[in-house]
Amino acid sequence: MEMFRSTYADISLDALAANWSEIKKVAGDDRFICPMIKANAYGHGDVQTGLALEKLGVGILGVCLIEEGLLLRSSGVNSEILVFRGFDKRGAEKILEYQMTPVVSTWEQIKYLEAVADETVKVHVKFNTGMNRIGFNPDQSEKLSDYFKKSKSLKLKALLTHYAMGEDAVSKDGFSAKQTATFLEIMDFFKGHDVYAHLLNSGGIASLAQVKQNNVSDHFLLQKKWGFRPGLALYGYQSAPQFKEMKLKPVMTLKSVVNNIRTVLPGESVSYGCTWTPLVPSKVAVVPIGYADGVHRLISNKSQALFAGQLAPIVGRICMDFLMLDVTHIVSGDDLTKWNEEEVTLFGFDENNKFLSAEVMAEQSNTIVWETLTSVSERVPRHYRGLKKP
Ligand SMILES: Cc1ncc(COP(=O)(O)O)c(C=O)c1O
Repeated sequence: MEMFRSTYADISLDALAANWSEIKKVAGDDRFICPMIKANAYGHGDVQTGLALEKLGVGILGVCLIEEGLLLRSSGVNSEILVFRGFDKRGAEKILEYQMTPVVSTWEQIKYLEAVADETVKVHVKFNTGMNRIGFNPDQSEKLSDYFKKSKSLKLKALLTHYAMGEDAVSKDGFSAKQTATFLEIMDFFKGHDVYAHLLNSGGIASLAQVKQNNVSDHFLLQKKWGFRPGLALYGYQSAPQFKEMKLKPVMTLKSVVNNIRTVLPGESVSYGCTWTPLVPSKVAVVPIGYADGVHRLISNKSQALFAGQLAPIVGRICMDFLMLDVTHIVSGDDLTKWNEEEVTLFGFDENNKFLSAEVMAEQSNTIVWETLTSVSERVPRHYRGLKKP
């Protein structure tokens, strides 16, 4: 579609490549790694991200929805696609028709696959070890193991579970340690199967990096070559502030440009609800990006953006399509029109490489950086650069 707006998300595929290589460094050789590109690759664009990862030699990609997998297939992604969300019979048919690999979490899903399989179907089986979201409970291990020994239509390839607090996996007695111990008990039932296991999200991977760097011995993260499923780390953010071992580069920069700059006088106010009134004559930049683009209204009067290399506070309520910045301390001169088209960076790197972290916006929005990134809405065009455009 032809785009007319100058608000956009700049996506650095070189940063993505650098993060991928940091993750691989932690992995070492011969480890299963499934980059998670669900939820539109955490807002970065799943097709472009998937194609870029393929260029980097990735052969397996993780999505949540069947629909996400279908979009990847129809856009030329040839990698194995792992579908995590679950499915009904209709979904099972589509998964197989488009050569995707199902993650199975219930006996019903096994039945649906059996009903539609006309050749052997590879499956990954998910266990609940404490997250209590999806997955078989551990008490099903023996029955599942017996089932897969006999099944002609389904071939068990991998076992998986998901950490509820991957960032505590450094600790030998945290929640991740407990989940891993449960998972190891589950794996015991599958001794006779030729399977691998994956469980490390970004928190788990960063923990492993720390364990390796600190030469911790006898740690459960070192006990097996646990497979990786990196999401956030791939997009350049740490899952917790204590992690420093991997040098990650934020991939997305959210940018807009000034629409106009207005003078607002004491006694006047800005935006809906008249929640901001200047104490001195002020210069207010109107920026055409709003909550419909993913800048949460919650950060009205709280957060800031980079404008001409400096932080400018967001003033007044954030609207659907606009927000306003107090740039009084930055602009000078009477000709305010010369600032029209000045670039504004909501998070990421400005034109002089000054950085404003999406974590700041996340914190001020009372949320996590995962949500800040995935909130960047569809109407924000993504501009890709680096890694020779896929
Ligand atoms: C099953 C599964 N694996 C891996 C991930 C990646 O997690 P992270 O973004 O913390 O790396 C997710 C994300 O929610 C997930 O649901």
